[in-house]
Amino acid sequence: MTTSTITKVLPSHLQEPIIPSARGVSQEYGTVRRNPLAMESSVAAASVDNLNQLLADTLTLGSLYKKHHWQASGPHFYSIHLLFDKHYEEQEALADILAERIQTLGGVSIAMAHDVAETSMIPRCPKGREDTETQVKRLLQAHEVILLEARAMAREAAEHGDLGTNDIIVSNLIRLNELQVWFVVEHIQ
Ligand SMILES: [Fe+2]
Repeated sequence: MTTSTITKVLPSHLQEPIIPSARGVSQEYGTVRRNPLAMESSVAAASVDNLNQLLADTLTLGSLYKKHHWQASGPHFYSIHLLFDKHYEEQEALADILAERIQTLGGVSIAMAHDVAETSMIPRCPKGREDTETQVKRLLQAHEVILLEARAMAREAAEHGDLGTNDIIVSNLIRLNELQVWFVVEHIQ
């Protein structure tokens, strides 16, 4: 295997993290500000917690689709290549809806890849290229992880009176994931 000869050692000033100014972190991750939404803080906090889990898993599923879009192969290469990218874009749009709901509720949305990787419930996949059947099975497993947790979270949000979060989980997340499962699973039926 050929390895890059470009040095991966950064100059010292680029290795050090930026030290936040006094006002650097205006709100810690995991905290919830009270916004005037006629909603108990504890209800908003529970929804933020659940939505951040869904956001981490949605971003991970989106990355999985992009990986499989780039690394597609086989006799149906072109259609699968395009389908996986369409689903990636739809998951990215969903992630934006989830993140902005978290901010609306007064929370802090998870965002960076390393934090997302630590939080996601979706099993890690190899760096290497996989055949289409394995790609499909991996995507279906990720969808099912999300659907399983999402249905429980939607019920919890409704029971606590957070109907806006319930609506987003049901109307945006569950319906999109179920539809994408159909388009993917038909490749191995
Ligand atoms: Fe592309």
